[in-house]
Amino acid sequence: MTEPRKLYVRSFGCQMNVYDAQRMTDTLAREGYVETDTAEDADLVILNTCHIREKAAEKVYSELGRLRKSQEEAGRRQMVAVAGCVAQAEGAEILKRARTVDLVVGPQSYHKLPELIAQAEARGSNRRAGIVETEFPVEDKFDFLPPPSRAAIAKRGPTAFVTVQEGCDKFCTFCVVPYTRGAEVSRPVAKILDEVIRLADGGVREVTLIGQNVNGYHGVDAGGRDVGLAELVRRVAQVPGIARVRYTTSHPRDMDDDLIAAHRDLPALMPYLHLPVQSGSNRVLAAMNRRHDRELFFAIVEKVRAARPDIAFSSDFIVGFPGETDEDFADTLDLVEKVGFAGAFSFKYSSRPGTPAASMDGQLPEDVKSARIHALQALLDRQKAAFDAACRGRRFEILLEKPGRFPGQLIGRSPYLQSVVVEAPVEAIGTLALVDVREVSTKSLSGDIVGGEFFADNVGMNRSARQSEKVEA
Ligand code: 5AD
Ligand code: SF4
Repeated sequence: MTEPRKLYVRSFGCQMNVYDAQRMTDTLAREGYVETDTAEDADLVILNTCHIREKAAEKVYSELGRLRKSQEEAGRRQMVAVAGCVAQAEGAEILKRARTVDLVVGPQSYHKLPELIAQAEARGSNRRAGIVETEFPVEDKFDFLPPPSRAAIAKRGPTAFVTVQEGCDKFCTFCVVPYTRGAEVSRPVAKILDEVIRLADGGVREVTLIGQNVNGYHGVDAGGRDVGLAELVRRVAQVPGIARVRYTTSHPRDMDDDLIAAHRDLPALMPYLHLPVQSGSNRVLAAMNRRHDRELFFAIVEKVRAARPDIAFSSDFIVGFPGETDEDFADTLDLVEKVGFAGAFSFKYSSRPGTPAASMDGQLPEDVKSARIHALQALLDRQKAAFDAACRGRRFEILLEKPGRFPGQLIGRSPYLQSVVVEAPVEAIGTLALVDVREVSTKSLSGDIVGGEFFADNVGMNRSARQSEKVEA
């Protein structure tokens, strides 16, 4: 018997890359590759890259430098593939800049990996003849990507991402996504449901539907009808075994009334919404081509809160967009004060080649961006700390996900994606537990289990008995 070949995939960037990495791993599992945890150990290394900000893209080249050094030291040849958004954006440039690379493959071509690897192998050590595949092929890669095995699903734990939509047609002036991931494409409902059923069958309890503009989802169902995200979430929530649904990342313009109603009607839809706003200044929002102003954002927040009073929001912010004045930035702080976020990501504006904002007047110096991001982050950190502190004494349903740091501990997630440490046996992983939150620290909450699917006393559980039985069986 030949030794299985070893595969190491490292993902940078967003959840879509995490999902893509899994699908690449599933594809290559069929070719006899097994996963390994270290790059040094692997026969094939795939860097699944992100191009969203300059720093993210630079990380790839430093990682490639490290790989080259370790290969030289070990006197060993590995096949190296660059996948993801840097691959799409830079194509053959990568081969010029990093001679360790054998293969460059864009996000729409992962299904071709086995044949591309075979081609690269056939070229042997002639590295100057690296292969580049960055077309947007006519076929849908999802039709060719094999599903994960049951064992692979179980290994990945009780939560899973499912890509439902890819690409973006919004063309925010700062953003590379429309160029790296292409136009918006939604997967058909039946294919998504098949995938969710399969995941649930492997023990998954929570799915996060992902897309670059996920609430722009418009797929067709079996009857040829157009289905929006709200209806998709309803159908996913009905899959036996699935207890929780989330979606990310949304655009404020696509928060339609049906989706807001889903937040009202579906207990399985978690009350935590990531809704990037980027700026609180109407002038900057216009220059960003966000297609909404701050008033629309406030109106949406209000509507969603009315529909689901326990909802909490997180968001993305960019500081130092070209032309952003002190007043504009003050408007961003003011928006944050008015909304109150439970979590958020803030970024310094990073000029991306080929985007309209890269050639705008008024590019700001680094020190201005730094001062602003510190001020904004401090405010967001205070809000997050206040939100977490207010969770002390609350009773949450927690999905138990994995062992904790110490024996006898498990880590689960609250509805708000906070890590929650509890004492419970490993057999309880994958079940919902009812927890009284006792302690709050900067990284996690901890508390006592008072009931749940695995535990004798089912007080207050709102899931159907059928689902509980299925998990405990
Ligand atoms: N510079 C800084 N941040 C950016 N983002 C997207 N493009 C840029 C850029 N050019 C941020 C946005 C987006 C998140 C995924 O990354 O806030 O919501
Ligand atoms: Fe990065 Fe955007 Fe690509 Fe995700 S889609 S990896 S955020 S560039």
